[in-house]
Amino acid sequence: MNLALASARGVAAPAPILAATGLSARYGHVQALHPLDIRIGEGELVAVLGPNGAGKSTLLRALMGLVSNAGEVRFRDAPLPRQDVVAVASRGIVLVPEGRGIFGPMSVADNLELGAYRLRDKSEFARRRERVLTLFPRLKERLGQIAGSMSGGEQQMLAIGRALMAGPKVLLLDEPSLGLAPRVTDEILETLGLLNREGLAIVLVEQKAPLALKLAARVYLLSLGRIVAELDPRDITSHDDLAQHYLS
Ligand SMILES: Nc1ncnc2c1ncn2[C@@H]1O[C@H](COP(=O)(O)OP(=O)(O)OP(=O)(O)O)[C@@H](O)[C@H]1O
Ligand SMILES: [Mg+2]
Repeated sequence: MNLALASARGVAAPAPILAATGLSARYGHVQALHPLDIRIGEGELVAVLGPNGAGKSTLLRALMGLVSNAGEVRFRDAPLPRQDVVAVASRGIVLVPEGRGIFGPMSVADNLELGAYRLRDKSEFARRRERVLTLFPRLKERLGQIAGSMSGGEQQMLAIGRALMAGPKVLLLDEPSLGLAPRVTDEILETLGLLNREGLAIVLVEQKAPLALKLAARVYLLSLGRIVAELDPRDITSHDDLAQHYLS
C-alpha cells in the first residue's frame, strides 16, 4: 500500500484552530522533523501515531515553539510567534508533556494553582478548579497530598487537570497512557472524550493505537520525522499492514 496516497474520507472538515505549514524541527544537527503540514479543526480530536523516535514529541514541541523549528503555525488564522512559548501558551495552546511535567515536591492543590498562574479572575479560577475536581474526583480527595507521592494514573490526571486550569483552546497530550494500567487509561481517555465532545480541540499522541482510534476524528501517522499518512480511523483496520504496525 502506498501510505502517501491514503487519505481521510471526504467529510466536510471543520475550520482549523491550529494549522502548521512546512513545520520542521532540529536538535543541533539532528533533523527530527522534516517540513510537514498538519491541521487541527475547531473541536476536533486528532491522533498522532508512530513508533519510538518517529518525532511525535518533537512535533508537539515544535507546535509550542519549545524546540528549534522553522515553518509557520497559525492559530485561528493568526500566525503564532515561533520561539516564544509563553506567547503560544497565552493563546491557549497547552502541552501535557511526556513524563507529565508536574511539580513532584508540591501539593496537588499548588500544582493546579500553577496551571492558572496568569489568571487574575478569582471566580473564573474557582470555576475551573471545581470543574477539574469534578472531572477527576480522585484529585479532590488528594488536594493536600504531595504530587510526587501519587500513583502514575493520579499524576497523569493532575497533569491534565493543571493544563485545564490554564483554560486551553487546544490541548496537546503526549502519550497520556504511558505506563498506566488499562483501567486508569480508560478513565483518562473517557474524560478526554468528554472534553472533546464539549468542544475542546485535542491533539493526542499515542503509541497504543486502539485507544487513540476510539476517540480520534482523524489520524496522522508519523515515521522518521515525516507524516506518511492522514487517515480516517475507521479506515485503519482495513489496511492490514497498518493494523499490524499500529494496532498490535
Ligand atoms: N533533546 C534531543 N536531542 C537530540 N535528539 C533528540 C532529542 N530529543 C529527541 N531527539 C531525537 O529526535 C527524534 C524524534 O524523537 P521524539 O522524542 O520526538 O520521538 P517520539 O516519536 O516522541 O518517540 P517516543 O515514542 O519514544 O516518545 C529521535 O531520533 C530522537 O533521538
Ligand atoms: Mg515521545
